[in-house]
Amino acid sequence: MRALPITAETTMFTSVVPIPTIGNLAVNSYLIRGEQPTLVDTGITPEVPEFDVELRDLIEPSDIRWIVVTHADRDHVGALVRLLTEAPKATVVTSFVTFGIMSIGSEPIPPERAFLVREGSTLDIGDRTLRAMRPPMFDNPGTLAFFDPKQNILFSADCFGAPFTTAEAALAEDVATIPDDELAPAQLLWGSVDSPWAHFVEESRFADNLNRFLQDRPDKVLGSHLPPIHGDLDRHVKTLTKLPSSTPYVTADQAALEAFMAAMAPQ
Ligand SMILES: [Fe+2]
Ligand SMILES: [Fe+2]
Repeated sequence: MRALPITAETTMFTSVVPIPTIGNLAVNSYLIRGEQPTLVDTGITPEVPEFDVELRDLIEPSDIRWIVVTHADRDHVGALVRLLTEAPKATVVTSFVTFGIMSIGSEPIPPERAFLVREGSTLDIGDRTLRAMRPPMFDNPGTLAFFDPKQNILFSADCFGAPFTTAEAALAEDVATIPDDELAPAQLLWGSVDSPWAHFVEESRFADNLNRFLQDRPDKVLGSHLPPIHGDLDRHVKTLTKLPSSTPYVTADQAALEAFMAAMAPQ
Protein backbone atom coordinates (compact mmCIF):
# COMPACT_ATOMS: atom_id res chain seq x y z
CA MET A 1 0.00 0.00 0.00
CA ARG A 2 1.41 3.34 -1.07
CA ALA A 3 -0.04 6.72 -0.04
CA LEU A 4 0.66 9.45 -2.59
CA PRO A 5 -0.31 13.10 -2.07
CA ILE A 6 -2.03 14.42 -5.19
CA THR A 7 -3.01 17.89 -3.97
CA ALA A 8 -2.87 19.61 -0.57
CA GLU A 9 -6.13 17.92 0.34
CA THR A 10 -6.30 14.75 -1.75
CA THR A 11 -4.26 11.58 -1.19
CA MET A 12 -4.22 8.45 -3.33
CA PHE A 13 -3.85 5.00 -1.72
CA THR A 14 -2.58 2.28 -4.06
CA SER A 15 -2.24 -1.48 -3.85
CA VAL A 16 -0.77 -3.33 -6.81
CA VAL A 17 -2.45 -6.60 -7.71
CA PRO A 18 -0.56 -8.98 -10.04
CA ILE A 19 -3.17 -10.61 -12.29
CA PRO A 20 -1.92 -13.74 -14.06
CA THR A 21 -1.77 -13.36 -17.87
CA ILE A 22 -2.88 -9.69 -17.65
CA GLY A 23 -0.35 -7.70 -15.64
CA ASN A 24 0.13 -5.55 -12.55
CA LEU A 25 -2.97 -3.52 -11.83
CA ALA A 26 -3.09 -0.55 -9.49
CA VAL A 27 -6.10 -0.46 -7.20
CA ASN A 28 -6.59 3.10 -5.99
CA SER A 29 -8.79 4.76 -3.43
CA TYR A 30 -8.74 8.38 -2.32
CA LEU A 31 -9.13 10.64 0.69
CA ILE A 32 -10.26 14.26 0.25
CA ARG A 33 -9.47 16.19 3.43
CA GLY A 34 -11.92 19.03 2.91
CA GLU A 35 -14.33 20.57 5.36
CA GLN A 36 -16.18 17.25 5.49
CA PRO A 37 -13.55 14.51 4.94
CA THR A 38 -14.54 12.15 2.15
CA LEU A 39 -13.19 8.78 1.04
CA VAL A 40 -13.61 7.62 -2.53
CA ASP A 41 -13.61 3.79 -2.41
CA THR A 42 -11.95 1.67 0.26
CA GLY A 43 -9.27 -0.56 -1.30
CA ILE A 44 -8.89 -4.34 -1.39
CA THR A 45 -9.66 -6.76 1.43
CA PRO A 46 -6.17 -8.33 1.78
CA GLU A 47 -4.66 -4.89 2.44
CA VAL A 48 -7.25 -3.57 4.89
CA PRO A 49 -4.67 -3.46 7.73
CA GLU A 50 -2.21 -1.50 5.56
CA PHE A 51 -4.98 0.83 4.39
CA ASP A 52 -5.93 1.43 8.01
CA VAL A 53 -2.35 2.43 8.89
CA GLU A 54 -2.01 4.82 5.93
CA LEU A 55 -5.43 6.33 6.54
CA ARG A 56 -4.77 6.93 10.25
CA ASP A 57 -1.57 8.68 9.31
CA LEU A 58 -3.76 11.37 7.71
CA ILE A 59 -7.03 11.34 9.59
CA GLU A 60 -8.85 9.84 12.53
CA PRO A 61 -11.43 7.51 10.89
CA SER A 62 -14.09 8.88 13.25
CA ASP A 63 -13.66 12.26 11.48
CA ILE A 64 -14.66 10.83 8.07
CA ARG A 65 -18.04 12.21 7.02
CA TRP A 66 -18.63 10.57 3.62
CA ILE A 67 -17.59 7.29 2.01
CA VAL A 68 -18.21 7.36 -1.72
CA VAL A 69 -18.51 3.83 -3.15
CA THR A 70 -18.17 4.03 -6.93
CA HIS A 71 -19.43 0.45 -7.29
CA ALA A 72 -19.71 -2.82 -5.41
CA ASP A 73 -16.77 -4.70 -6.95
CA ARG A 74 -14.45 -6.36 -4.44
CA ASP A 75 -11.57 -4.03 -5.26
CA HIS A 76 -13.62 -1.00 -4.19
CA VAL A 77 -15.22 -2.11 -0.94
CA GLY A 78 -12.33 -3.85 0.87
CA ALA A 79 -12.37 -1.77 4.07
CA LEU A 80 -16.01 -0.70 3.92
CA VAL A 81 -17.32 -2.94 6.70
CA ARG A 82 -14.48 -1.98 9.00
CA LEU A 83 -15.00 1.71 8.26
CA LEU A 84 -18.72 1.51 8.99
CA THR A 85 -17.64 0.69 12.55
CA GLU A 86 -14.58 2.92 12.80
CA ALA A 87 -16.18 5.90 11.09
CA PRO A 88 -19.58 6.05 12.80
CA LYS A 89 -20.30 9.55 11.44
CA ALA A 90 -19.72 8.50 7.84
CA THR A 91 -22.55 8.19 5.34
CA VAL A 92 -22.07 5.89 2.34
CA VAL A 93 -22.74 7.67 -0.95
CA THR A 94 -23.55 5.28 -3.74
CA SER A 95 -26.05 4.27 -6.43
CA PHE A 96 -29.24 2.30 -5.90
CA VAL A 97 -27.77 -0.60 -7.89
CA THR A 98 -24.61 -0.69 -5.77
CA PHE A 99 -26.69 -0.52 -2.60
CA GLY A 100 -28.81 -3.39 -3.91
CA ILE A 101 -25.84 -5.56 -4.90
CA MET A 102 -24.25 -5.03 -1.48
CA SER A 103 -27.53 -5.88 0.24
CA ILE A 104 -27.51 -9.47 -1.08
CA GLY A 105 -23.93 -10.09 0.06
CA SER A 106 -22.29 -10.61 3.43
CA GLU A 107 -21.50 -6.92 3.86
CA PRO A 108 -24.70 -4.92 3.32
CA ILE A 109 -24.75 -1.15 3.69
CA PRO A 110 -27.20 -0.37 6.49
CA PRO A 111 -30.00 1.73 4.92
CA GLU A 112 -29.68 4.37 7.62
CA ARG A 113 -26.00 4.81 6.66
CA ALA A 114 -26.66 5.20 2.92
CA PHE A 115 -27.27 8.24 0.72
CA LEU A 116 -28.29 7.26 -2.80
CA VAL A 117 -27.27 9.23 -5.87
CA ARG A 118 -27.57 8.74 -9.62
CA GLU A 119 -26.05 10.33 -12.70
CA GLY A 120 -26.41 14.10 -12.36
CA SER A 121 -27.02 14.01 -8.60
CA THR A 122 -25.07 16.47 -6.50
CA LEU A 123 -23.76 16.03 -3.00
CA ASP A 124 -22.91 18.96 -0.76
CA ILE A 125 -19.84 18.02 1.28
CA GLY A 126 -19.45 21.40 2.95
CA ASP A 127 -16.91 23.31 0.92
CA ARG A 128 -17.83 21.84 -2.48
CA THR A 129 -20.59 20.00 -4.27
CA LEU A 130 -19.61 16.68 -5.83
CA ARG A 131 -21.47 15.65 -8.97
CA ALA A 132 -22.15 12.03 -9.89
CA MET A 133 -21.54 10.97 -13.49
CA ARG A 134 -21.79 7.72 -15.40
CA PRO A 135 -18.36 6.93 -16.86
CA PRO A 136 -18.08 5.78 -20.48
CA MET A 137 -16.35 2.54 -19.44
CA PHE A 138 -17.50 0.40 -16.52
CA ASP A 139 -17.78 -3.23 -15.50
CA ASN A 140 -20.71 -2.93 -13.13
CA PRO A 141 -24.06 -1.26 -13.83
CA GLY A 142 -24.04 0.49 -10.45
CA THR A 143 -20.89 2.43 -11.31
CA LEU A 144 -20.71 6.18 -10.80
CA ALA A 145 -17.77 8.55 -11.20
CA PHE A 146 -17.60 11.82 -9.23
CA PHE A 147 -16.46 15.30 -10.23
CA ASP A 148 -15.00 17.62 -7.60
CA PRO A 149 -15.37 21.20 -8.95
CA LYS A 150 -13.30 22.77 -6.16
CA GLN A 151 -10.18 20.86 -7.15
CA ASN A 152 -11.28 20.31 -10.76
CA ILE A 153 -10.65 16.59 -10.29
CA LEU A 154 -12.63 13.78 -11.84
CA PHE A 155 -12.67 10.52 -9.87
CA SER A 156 -13.31 8.19 -12.78
CA ALA A 157 -13.83 4.75 -11.14
CA ASP A 158 -12.75 1.88 -13.46
CA CYS A 159 -12.52 4.13 -16.54
CA PHE A 160 -8.95 4.76 -17.91
CA GLY A 161 -7.24 1.80 -16.18
CA ALA A 162 -4.21 -0.14 -17.41
CA PRO A 163 -2.31 -3.26 -16.26
CA PHE A 164 1.47 -3.01 -16.59
CA THR A 165 4.38 -5.39 -16.99
CA THR A 166 5.95 -4.13 -13.78
CA ALA A 167 4.60 -3.05 -10.40
CA GLU A 168 6.80 0.05 -10.68
CA ALA A 169 4.83 1.27 -13.70
CA ALA A 170 1.55 0.68 -11.88
CA LEU A 171 2.95 2.86 -9.08
CA ALA A 172 4.08 5.73 -11.33
CA GLU A 173 3.33 9.12 -9.78
CA ASP A 174 2.18 10.56 -13.10
CA VAL A 175 0.89 8.53 -16.02
CA ALA A 176 2.65 10.99 -18.34
CA THR A 177 5.95 9.24 -17.50
CA ILE A 178 4.75 6.06 -19.22
CA PRO A 179 5.53 6.03 -22.95
CA ASP A 180 2.75 5.62 -25.49
CA ASP A 181 3.99 2.28 -26.77
CA GLU A 182 3.54 0.86 -23.27
CA LEU A 183 0.48 2.80 -22.13
CA ALA A 184 -1.78 2.63 -25.18
CA PRO A 185 -1.86 -1.20 -25.53
CA ALA A 186 -2.25 -1.52 -21.74
CA GLN A 187 -5.24 0.87 -21.74
CA LEU A 188 -6.85 -0.98 -24.63
CA LEU A 189 -6.26 -4.31 -22.88
CA TRP A 190 -7.87 -3.01 -19.71
CA GLY A 191 -10.77 -1.55 -21.66
CA SER A 192 -11.40 -4.88 -23.36
CA VAL A 193 -11.04 -6.88 -20.12
CA ASP A 194 -13.16 -4.57 -17.97
CA SER A 195 -15.67 -3.21 -20.49
CA PRO A 196 -15.89 -6.00 -23.11
CA TRP A 197 -19.24 -4.62 -24.28
CA ALA A 198 -17.32 -1.69 -25.82
CA HIS A 199 -16.61 -3.91 -28.83
CA PHE A 200 -20.34 -3.79 -29.64
CA VAL A 201 -20.45 0.02 -29.64
CA GLU A 202 -20.05 2.16 -32.73
CA GLU A 203 -16.70 3.98 -32.51
CA SER A 204 -18.02 7.52 -33.01
CA ARG A 205 -20.68 7.07 -30.32
CA PHE A 206 -18.06 5.72 -27.95
CA ALA A 207 -15.84 8.75 -28.68
CA ASP A 208 -18.77 11.13 -28.08
CA ASN A 209 -19.38 9.53 -24.72
CA LEU A 210 -15.70 9.80 -23.75
CA ASN A 211 -15.72 13.51 -24.63
CA ARG A 212 -19.00 14.06 -22.74
CA PHE A 213 -17.40 12.54 -19.66
CA LEU A 214 -14.48 14.97 -19.90
CA GLN A 215 -16.47 18.07 -20.86
CA ASP A 216 -15.54 19.84 -17.60
CA ARG A 217 -11.90 19.55 -18.74
CA PRO A 218 -10.71 18.38 -15.31
CA ASP A 219 -7.14 19.25 -14.35
CA LYS A 220 -6.69 15.73 -13.04
CA VAL A 221 -8.41 12.43 -13.64
CA LEU A 222 -7.98 9.98 -10.81
CA GLY A 223 -9.05 6.49 -11.74
CA SER A 224 -9.21 3.32 -9.72
CA HIS A 225 -6.70 1.45 -11.89
CA LEU A 226 -4.25 3.94 -13.39
CA PRO A 227 -1.53 6.30 -12.12
CA PRO A 228 -2.83 9.89 -11.87
CA ILE A 229 -3.64 11.76 -15.07
CA HIS A 230 -2.44 15.37 -14.73
CA GLY A 231 -3.93 17.11 -17.75
CA ASP A 232 -3.36 15.89 -21.33
CA LEU A 233 -6.76 14.26 -21.49
CA ASP A 234 -6.60 14.09 -25.27
CA ARG A 235 -3.86 11.46 -25.12
CA HIS A 236 -6.24 9.10 -23.34
CA VAL A 237 -9.27 9.95 -25.46
CA LYS A 238 -7.21 9.29 -28.59
CA THR A 239 -6.22 5.84 -27.34
CA LEU A 240 -9.59 4.78 -26.00
CA THR A 241 -11.52 5.97 -29.03
CA LYS A 242 -9.95 2.93 -30.72
CA LEU A 243 -11.28 0.51 -28.11
CA PRO A 244 -14.45 -0.58 -29.97
CA SER A 245 -12.43 -1.67 -33.01
CA SER A 246 -9.42 -3.03 -31.11
CA THR A 247 -8.76 -6.76 -30.79
CA PRO A 248 -11.07 -8.18 -28.12
CA TYR A 249 -9.37 -9.75 -25.14
CA VAL A 250 -9.79 -13.51 -24.98
CA THR A 251 -9.79 -14.70 -21.39
CA ALA A 252 -7.31 -17.29 -20.24
CA ASP A 253 -8.66 -20.83 -19.87
CA GLN A 254 -7.24 -23.50 -17.60
CA ALA A 255 -4.56 -24.57 -20.11
CA ALA A 256 -3.42 -20.97 -20.67
CA LEU A 257 -3.30 -20.32 -16.94
CA GLU A 258 -1.27 -23.47 -16.29
CA ALA A 259 1.16 -22.55 -19.10
CA PHE A 260 1.53 -19.07 -17.59
CA MET A 261 2.17 -20.45 -14.09
CA ALA A 262 4.72 -22.94 -15.46
CA ALA A 263 6.58 -20.16 -17.26
CA MET A 264 6.61 -18.09 -14.07
CA ALA A 265 7.79 -20.94 -11.82
CA PRO A 266 11.39 -20.72 -10.56
CA GLN A 267 13.66 -22.91 -12.68
FE1 LIG B 1 -15.15 -2.69 -11.36
FE1 LIG C 1 -12.21 -1.74 -10.20
